[in-house]
Amino acid sequence: MAPAVRKLALTVHVTSSAGWLGAVVCFLALAVTGLSGQDAPRGRGLYPAMEVITWAAIVPLAFATLLSGVVSSLGTPWGLFRHYWVLAKLALTVFAIGVLVMQLGVIGAVADAAAMTGPSGADLRELRISLVLHSGGGLLVLLSAMVLAVYKPRGTTRYGRRAHSERPTGRRPRLIQR
Ligand code: HEM
Repeated sequence: MAPAVRKLALTVHVTSSAGWLGAVVCFLALAVTGLSGQDAPRGRGLYPAMEVITWAAIVPLAFATLLSGVVSSLGTPWGLFRHYWVLAKLALTVFAIGVLVMQLGVIGAVADAAAMTGPSGADLRELRISLVLHSGGGLLVLLSAMVLAVYKPRGTTRYGRRAHSERPTGRRPRLIQR
């Protein structure tokens, strides 16, 4: 990948992944407020706002992170299957997106019910707790991916070692910076 394209891909990747993390922090803040607050009129608007954050920010940023991460991997000497830290980030991201997709129905249902009847209905309590737990867990997963991205712990897969030893010079690729 040409250096300018690589920088563009990395800019998209860092922006989308940091944005995803920030949007999840906002979602979690609203979810905790909705759980603790007794203020029905305010609560009525909280859950629809969380649904907006989900569709306008979390979902597009999550897919942008995955796509730009795969592009950055395949277009650089890091590769997609050569380094454990890249593989671990791929697994964490796919897992987080899978859980997000499964939670979309719950988020919509709680938003609809809260807009109509207020958020304090007993039947909604379990779902509201589940939103706090899932977004809190999601945040931990994203933070783990962030730590992996920054520290890039050593460790090459068997495929990565083979690819490395087959390089004509046998040296580390120049573009890999720790
Ligand atoms: C929530 C998920 C993710 C977060 C928070 C994240 C965060 C980051 C950050 C902050 C960097 C810049 C690190 C630096 O330049 O020192 C980075 C780089 C990178 N990420 Fe991610 N990432 C995520 C998901 C992924 C995924 C799914 C992949 C690939 C499958 C991936 C592959 C890469 C690669 C290869 C680089 C280095 C790119 C380069 O040097 O040009 N990331 N990531």
